[in-house]
Amino acid sequence: MYLLSALPELLLLFQALAGLKGQTEEIPCVVGDEHVWTKDIRYQLSPFNHSHKVAKFCYADKELINRAIVASVAARREWDLKPVQDRARVLFKAADVISGPKRAEILAKTMIGQGKTVVQAEIDAAAELIDFFRFNAKHAVDLEKQQPLNSEGTTNTMLYRGLEVRIQLLCYYNLCFQGNVVLWKPSDTAVSASYAVYRVLRECGLPPNIIQFLPADGPVFGDTVTSSQHLAGINFTGSVPTFKRLWKQVSQNLDSYRTFPRLAGECGGKNFHFVHKSADVESVVNGTIRSAFEYGGQKCSACSRMYVPDSTWPAIREGLLAVHSQLTVGDPVKDFSTFFSAVIDDKSFARIKKWIDRAKSSSSLKVIAGGNYDDSKGYFVEPTIIETTDPRDTIMSEEIFGPVLAVYVYPEKDYREVLQLIDNTSPYALTGAVFAQDRTVVDEAARALRNAAGNYYVNDKSTGSVVAQQPFGGARASGTNDKPGGPHYVLRWTSPQVVKETHVPLADWRYAYMG
Ligand SMILES: *[C@@H]1O[C@H](CO)[C@@H](O)[C@H](O)[C@H]1NC(C)=O
Ligand SMILES: *[C@@H]1O[C@H](CO)[C@@H](O)[C@H](O)[C@H]1NC(C)=O
Ligand SMILES: *[C@@H]1O[C@H](CO)[C@@H](O)[C@H](O)[C@H]1NC(C)=O
Repeated sequence: MYLLSALPELLLLFQALAGLKGQTEEIPCVVGDEHVWTKDIRYQLSPFNHSHKVAKFCYADKELINRAIVASVAARREWDLKPVQDRARVLFKAADVISGPKRAEILAKTMIGQGKTVVQAEIDAAAELIDFFRFNAKHAVDLEKQQPLNSEGTTNTMLYRGLEVRIQLLCYYNLCFQGNVVLWKPSDTAVSASYAVYRVLRECGLPPNIIQFLPADGPVFGDTVTSSQHLAGINFTGSVPTFKRLWKQVSQNLDSYRTFPRLAGECGGKNFHFVHKSADVESVVNGTIRSAFEYGGQKCSACSRMYVPDSTWPAIREGLLAVHSQLTVGDPVKDFSTFFSAVIDDKSFARIKKWIDRAKSSSSLKVIAGGNYDDSKGYFVEPTIIETTDPRDTIMSEEIFGPVLAVYVYPEKDYREVLQLIDNTSPYALTGAVFAQDRTVVDEAARALRNAAGNYYVNDKSTGSVVAQQPFGGARASGTNDKPGGPHYVLRWTSPQVVKETHVPLADWRYAYMG
């Protein structure tokens, strides 16, 4: 990555990391310009050293969330009336600040707070965020250029208005620049880096009340926003049951809304690597290790089920085990060569542990690599590879969101049935990859798996989408497949108004046929 090759930036990163050592940052809720502390105090812990409290923050209660909604509604009109260039300027500026003076701080907070390695932090917290800011701002500006046709004597204009109020759950913050106002509920495990980004946006000219910063208990936040008459949209990242619950709450409250809320969700995946006998073994091995274990498998697009023909399995297995023995799991701050660090929190650790324990005691599952875990200091889980003789075992259909890869070895000649199996084993359809040199098989697989993945790869791993190159998202249980990072995305969060203005008065009320 550029960062590792740029010494001055690396020094800045070391300084930032040293500055955060043992520190606990106090992070309030922010409504307008007001910093608010409620009594419900929480902590963000460093995943690889859970005795380090990275941030002390508080949960917004119902009353505070409602106060934030009222203040947002009041601020919306003026913000929405601003020229799009003015709104986009804030994002362009924030992108510059994050890529420049604030980069080291945001990287360091992502590494310590979320246990990402330097490369992972650089990719997500810097590169991708910066791309998203610039890309969405550019598209918001470009969108205004798309206008309807005029005819003689009339001018037609499309106004790309913001939604009347847009409420956003979890993670991201992009589209307040479409004239929307946003309640941002950061993930409990990312409060520190999220707050740093929020501060950058404010310092770059985002007026108060456009984004409210509200860490909160998920269900309380969900209940409160879905019962507000002003709800205009939800951008959710999280589990399927939570997204369904929000959707149901929205339907129950439908009569009270002023507008039909737009619901967008990204809910995870059970991403596959399909290997044909004609595949190049080394690229399968390298691609699968990367995809299954980078970020400790905590990536929506991570490969977690793999289908390998019996003829090539010995070679692939040997390759996987050889690389597996070189993977280092540890403290990403002390050791920059760490491949991945601890999983994000105790809940995650407990969930992954359960899957591994089950594999150890099941007769159809066999742990062939890894399988150890230890949460005495941090939430560490070894990269684990599990072979299953039952392709319908839940380990092949349910999301684990951890460093666990399940492999099903199939009789080489049955690859067509296996393609069907991949398509109908899991409710998800986020990402998937096909490894084959035989072109007819590549084409056959593309047809069989047309609906099995929103991001589909040929002879490449199932991860690593880049903003503007591979817009990201999946359908089925994986979500609403809106493809942030694509050119149509900004439209999702606008409510266009068409204006026809006539310059010539209507000369007659009669139709020509009336004579
Ligand atoms: C973990 O964090 C605690 C509290 O900040 C600190 O005293 C300790 O040295 C850290 N341990 C490691 C291994 O970094
Ligand atoms: C909505 O969330 C997704 C992640 O699930 C993110 O990529 C996207 O930028 C967010 N959209 C907005 C409008 O912030
Ligand atoms: C796979 O990775 C190894 C080690 O990094 C490398 O030597 C090898 O060339 C890679 N294989 C392919 C096909 O790129």
